[in-house]
Amino acid sequence: MTEEHLAVQQAARDFAKSELLPGVIERDTHQKFPAEQIKKMAALGFMGMMVDPKYNGGGLDTISYVLAMEEISKVDASASVCMSVNNSLVCWGLEKFGSEEQKEKYLKPLASGEVIGAFCLSEPEAGSDATSQRTRAEDKGDHYLLNGTKNWITNGNSASIYIVIAQTEPEKRHKGINALIVEKEMPGFVVGRKEDKMGIRGSDTHSLMFTDVKVPKANRIGEEGFGFTFAMSTLNGGRIGIAAQALGIASGAYELSLRYSKERKAFGKTLAEHQAIQFKLADMATQIDAARLLVWKAAYLKDQKKDFVKAAAMAKLFASQVAQDVTTEAVQIHGGYGFVKEFHVERMMRDAKITQIYEGTTEIQKMVISRELLR
Ligand code: CAA
Repeated sequence: MTEEHLAVQQAARDFAKSELLPGVIERDTHQKFPAEQIKKMAALGFMGMMVDPKYNGGGLDTISYVLAMEEISKVDASASVCMSVNNSLVCWGLEKFGSEEQKEKYLKPLASGEVIGAFCLSEPEAGSDATSQRTRAEDKGDHYLLNGTKNWITNGNSASIYIVIAQTEPEKRHKGINALIVEKEMPGFVVGRKEDKMGIRGSDTHSLMFTDVKVPKANRIGEEGFGFTFAMSTLNGGRIGIAAQALGIASGAYELSLRYSKERKAFGKTLAEHQAIQFKLADMATQIDAARLLVWKAAYLKDQKKDFVKAAAMAKLFASQVAQDVTTEAVQIHGGYGFVKEFHVERMMRDAKITQIYEGTTEIQKMVISRELLR
């Protein structure tokens, strides 16, 4: 790691401890979005880390991004999913595939974190089967008429700018899909109900409804019919962010468990002096190290502009399982204390689950990996 990497890691670690830790339990309990904290993360440059400075970004590499994601996720996975979506699904796609006008108008405020963005692919009947888009973007000459519903959208209400994937020419299947930039104020766009979730309860997850929303043609990303490839390419990178999030949840739970096992006494000695606990810690640390190496490998390949599709899917597949396993063991090590909110690990166990579901389920990651292997 370079000096710069270490500085980013330390800044994220300090921020998580001083600004995210206080109140994280309350935000989880009351499903409160960390709005003030996200503003401070924006001021530190965490919302557009990899974007070129000429578009208000941090100009950092993917390694810096995963280091920061891990540190933020150790403490507050609700804040880190907001960060991950804004960085990898919104800013990255806009910078890579957007027009110069789109970058000036939308990427700049998104990269600085002045506003946040949302990525809208999932629908009531199109989750893993993402080509089955029912949302329609009818071509009306100079604009598209957008109609449909999106589900489980991260930053659903707190975002101002939405990238919406919609079907224009159903007969062309995935080649008839477009990616459109939609502003919250556009008439006909309504933010639906907030989801009451098992985990990442501080994040802001909503359904969205579009009724005859006029979206200018200038807001289409890429050529006509490019929307599905846009979504898939963006998700390839997004999966590195979620893998880093899963890694952070796991390493956060591990660090708490290590500390607790040195403090808590049972049968006349600390938990850490019992071999049963030592073996758990050994397994947790080994899994976390392996996950971290996969996450760093995927980030490194992306930075080297090499093919990272398989590596990103492997990192997410593995790290999300590690997050499951490690957080479950963390609760076990904490015993009764682990089952109550005050000790954090029960929240981490609930937060870990979503990393096996969003940005491609575990099963989708296996599809992606095996397709790459058999190509
Ligand atoms: N990268 C780039 N392009 C890809 C790709 C990838 N990983 N996977 C597929 N494509 C392209 C294919 O090349 C093909 O294009 P061409 O015909 O031009 O070659 C096109 O996409 C269709 O591919 P398939 O025929 O393979 O499509 P499929 O229907 O069999 O399967 C899938 C595709 C991989 C299963 C895909 O639907 C998928 O990834 N599903 C999961 C969707 C997902 O991750 N959703 C998460 C929601 S977003 C979210 O969670 C954000 C949040 O808020 C946190």
